[in-house]
Amino acid sequence: MSDFEKLKGELKVKLNHAKTSQEVDIIRTNIFGKNGLINSEFKKLGSLSPEDKKKVASEINNAKQELTKLFNDKVLTLTNSEIDEQVKKEKDDVTLPEKDFRIGKIHPVSQVIDEISSIFSEIGFSVEEGPDVESEYYNFTALNTPENHPAKDMHDTFYLDKNMKTLLRTHTSPVQVRTMLNGKPPFKIIAPGRTYRSDSDQTHTPMFHQLEGLHIDKNINMGHLKGCLNYFVKEFFEVDKIKMRFRPSHFPFTEPSAEVDIGYRVENNKIVIGEGDKWLEILGCGMVHPNVLKNSKVDPKKYQGFAFGIGIDRLAMLKYGINDLRSFFECDYRWLNYYGFDPLDVPTNYRGLSK
Ligand code: PHE
Repeated sequence: MSDFEKLKGELKVKLNHAKTSQEVDIIRTNIFGKNGLINSEFKKLGSLSPEDKKKVASEINNAKQELTKLFNDKVLTLTNSEIDEQVKKEKDDVTLPEKDFRIGKIHPVSQVIDEISSIFSEIGFSVEEGPDVESEYYNFTALNTPENHPAKDMHDTFYLDKNMKTLLRTHTSPVQVRTMLNGKPPFKIIAPGRTYRSDSDQTHTPMFHQLEGLHIDKNINMGHLKGCLNYFVKEFFEVDKIKMRFRPSHFPFTEPSAEVDIGYRVENNKIVIGEGDKWLEILGCGMVHPNVLKNSKVDPKKYQGFAFGIGIDRLAMLKYGINDLRSFFECDYRWLNYYGFDPLDVPTNYRGLSK
């Protein structure tokens, strides 16, 4: 047997025993590579006589064909068995409960909106919505805001046209008017949503979130407002005792008006809500002005009630210890991973809001 025949035989055996594509690749180079078996045989042809050259060349070609076929078959069976192997390993039982799919997180603002909605729905408030792009009428005029009021200034309000008739709503209060025009009293609603003002620093962003509350019925008074907000703040901060103070204030759409502060103290660099001698403003409120009721086709002699506007982002910062409001809206995945909430933990009053 010639050397060539011997080498060919050996490589055939090796090929037969190869178990992985990597092994096959090595044998492939040994046979078909630049310095492989076939090429070295062809190189030898130069020293042969013309007759021998013809004979040997055709032998090499036959061997090449034979080996190529063997090779292709081997690659095919190997690939199939490797795929089978992989499929076996990757087999998933789709009936098993999933273990690792909580990749996304709920943004603290969404979480806080859900928490607040849950708290108010327990005492009979339903949820309303209004548009972000609002008319000057609903945002200001219907809310009893005088022509020369500073809030109407270009510095505060994003107007969308030259005539200053369309704007990005500066608060959620227009939803009060829209809700009342759309139905008949009594009304007991909350309206969370985006609001816009031309402002930006550590505690202000051009877009922020508010939650409006409105309760209109016969014989509603300031006492109801205080009771309602007291209940809300205690539930929201998940504490039994809360220190709250109503400070006289002014809004064109409420009379009387108040701003509400809650008491807190700082302990180990953390805010402790409900005690201490420091005050933090968290919302504006008051009894709905008779002019607003009239503009909303509600008879102020028969019906009255209260409204409030809560700064949602502020509350989220307080409850979850987030220092910079701007970080809420930077869409940083790492931030969201840290401060975000589990999508399956829907806040409810009875199961605990944030636990
Ligand atoms: N709209 C007021 C604000 O944005 C808050 C408010 C709402 C005050 C309802 C009173 C009643 O500051």
